[in-house]
Amino acid sequence: MKTRLVSLPDFKKAAGRNHDTPISFKQAEMKPTSFLVSWGREKTFCIKTYGCQANVRDSEILRGYLLALGMKEQEDFDGADLILFNTCAIRENAENHLYGELGRAKETYLKNKDTIIAICGCVMQEEKAVRYVLDHFNFVSLIFGTNNITSFYSLLEDCLVHHEGIVDVKSNSDLIEEGFPEGKEGRESKVTAFVNIMYGCDKFCTYCIVPYTRGRERSRKEEDILAEVRCLKEQGYKQVTLLGQNVDAYGKDFHDEYAFASLLEKVAETGIERVRFVTPYPSDFKTEVFDVMKRHQNIMPYLHLPIQSGSNRVLKRMNRRYTREEYLEIVKALRERLPDVFLSTDIIVGFPDESDEDFEETLSLVREVKYDAAYTFIFSPRPGTPAYHMKDSTSDQVKHERFDRLKALIDELATNRAKEFVGKTVEVLFEKVSDRNKEMISGYDPHNKLVHVRGDSSLIGQIRKVKILESRTYSLLGELVDD
Ligand code: SAH
Ligand code: SF4
Ligand code: F3S
Repeated sequence: MKTRLVSLPDFKKAAGRNHDTPISFKQAEMKPTSFLVSWGREKTFCIKTYGCQANVRDSEILRGYLLALGMKEQEDFDGADLILFNTCAIRENAENHLYGELGRAKETYLKNKDTIIAICGCVMQEEKAVRYVLDHFNFVSLIFGTNNITSFYSLLEDCLVHHEGIVDVKSNSDLIEEGFPEGKEGRESKVTAFVNIMYGCDKFCTYCIVPYTRGRERSRKEEDILAEVRCLKEQGYKQVTLLGQNVDAYGKDFHDEYAFASLLEKVAETGIERVRFVTPYPSDFKTEVFDVMKRHQNIMPYLHLPIQSGSNRVLKRMNRRYTREEYLEIVKALRERLPDVFLSTDIIVGFPDESDEDFEETLSLVREVKYDAAYTFIFSPRPGTPAYHMKDSTSDQVKHERFDRLKALIDELATNRAKEFVGKTVEVLFEKVSDRNKEMISGYDPHNKLVHVRGDSSLIGQIRKVKILESRTYSLLGELVDD
């Protein structure tokens, strides 16, 4: 296929952001042309989403665009007229997964050469990855990035009209677009919803690719966020999760340090049943946020507070802007105000030259904090990030051994904590039929514990009392009790 390169991403441009340029706000282009509507009628699409909640939300917006053309969604790509991959670049295996999937998509393409295969998301923000796709998968029709999903209609139309491939990836953005459908259109769930409060990341942790793939930190206006939450509530949504790479930096671009606490309070005051947020950055956390959590019963007593490492030496090399001691102070301040809060974290094992002592400090920190859950990752060098070039003499075997030891400790802590639930009654918001057993319905308690009960799909969207009968490491089994 002939491909037109409109713009290619550039990590250097993404890193050298110009904070002197103010953020501008614009209404997104959401109306399809009659050409696209007649093309889309009777056609099907399949979206494969990888990565974090930011990608899930972007895919929801793109799903909204495709549904508005009258297209129908299907789960697998076999036979779909349009296949969209929304990719994640956080670790090498996430990226490699895309290439495997593209091999499979090729079979669909060969059966019907009119199939549009599109790729967006964080992997496409790397020039090398875009070039690799163009060289190895020349049936791909459309490549765009995280900063121009709202150009989707015009890009798609260009591809269709000119019968050519298009690559248009913007490196950074000073723009916030509003006006996406706020409610159900395109969203994955009819019960819980993600609400972006800010985009991008300015932290530049040395291992992380996100600041290059998601651009400069920029906060949505409070009134737009609140309008979205109110609309979701009116439509029957029971929970919103406020999203940002470091939510407690919300409003820093308007020079307001306390903006997150104030926003969180206003979201709680809308009266929506449950409010959650991810991800706070430890040293940006203001205790005002804990006070707001304490004041509002509808802000769930659960916090995901990434530590990354228990060693100050490693934290410094990661460019995390807190020490182990400061982190522990934050946890203490949190637990003083909210003794019942559940805490989870992210930890990277095998950061370049992590020593045995560094790793032991991570284990001791985990024991001290007693996390309820933790997501653990083996360091994956990402080209373009500073840590990619750091000297590393630890063998893969040692990294895997450390990973297994850490995982065993976390599982033990989580198992013990889960056992404390047995015999208790908790309130569960039911979200879906269980993946494993179609006779079970699953949901979450306020602490974000996954709970399964026997029941039918009429429970979905309800908050019900459940008596816990059995515990596993990361889930609980219970039965409904009458209110
Ligand atoms: N903004 C959030 C989440 C970022 S990505 C935060 O700051 O915590 C989610 C997690 O992926 C990170 O917390 C980190 O633990 C992990 N991660 C990021 N880059 C990684 C890399 N190169 N190798 C391994 N894990 C990584
Ligand atoms: Fe990545 Fe650090 Fe930003 Fe999180 S805060 S997205 S880990 S750079
Ligand atoms: Fe992955 Fe991009 Fe999220 S790299 S973790 S999808 S911000």
